[in-house]
Amino acid sequence: MRRLHGKLVIATHNAGKLREMRELLTPYGIEAVSSGDLGLDEPEETGADFVANALIKARAAAMASGLPALADDSGVCVDALDGAPGIYSARWAGEAKDFYAAMARMESEVEKSGSPSRRAHFVSALALVWPDGEEFSVEGKVFGDLTFPPRGTAGFGYDPCFTPDGHDRTFGEMSAEEKHGIPADGAQALSHRARAFQLLAKNLLEGDSSPVANSGR
Ligand code: IMP
Repeated sequence: MRRLHGKLVIATHNAGKLREMRELLTPYGIEAVSSGDLGLDEPEETGADFVANALIKARAAAMASGLPALADDSGVCVDALDGAPGIYSARWAGEAKDFYAAMARMESEVEKSGSPSRRAHFVSALALVWPDGEEFSVEGKVFGDLTFPPRGTAGFGYDPCFTPDGHDRTFGEMSAEEKHGIPADGAQALSHRARAFQLLAKNLLEGDSSPVANSGR
């Protein structure tokens, strides 16, 4: 597998995602610019799953910039709702980005489903595309239980209604370091996004070429 070094584009117009990705990449000597900084358009996310959407965004940014491009796509999948909202997680919050309304909808749809299951998982897909067309993608997941009413004010999105397995606090009650931190001893991180980044780093940044998840052209 090819190594990543030098400069890359992060295919996002979201300042929070850019900052988080930059912080993760800086220790590896990677200089990250954003597709927003370069004035690149955001393509429509028409993929059927998280990896497909991350690849759409990374391909568009790599072709337009001539640089390797990294993109992510993420969301929460609820077992009782057959995986919804999934790739529509952001859209459930509407134009107003009201995640309390989205969590209320989730609670009521789970109730209506009649399923006793309160299981859910977050997924984060990361895709890296080089301008010559080589592609690499990984998925990180974290499993847990839905918690209603939501608890905690930390984090964002659906964090207050998700308690990861092995914990009794929701993501909304955890510090950023506890949720997203990458353990220095090589242990598995907690969040789906941090887990996806660990897989990306292992494959593209650290010289360990063991194959993980999807890779290829
Ligand atoms: P996108 O990846 O920007 O398309 O949006 C993913 C959506 O999934 C976000 O707007 C959140 O609603 C939700 N989501 C993804 N990751 C997390 C997380 O770590 N905590 C809470 N919500 C998340």
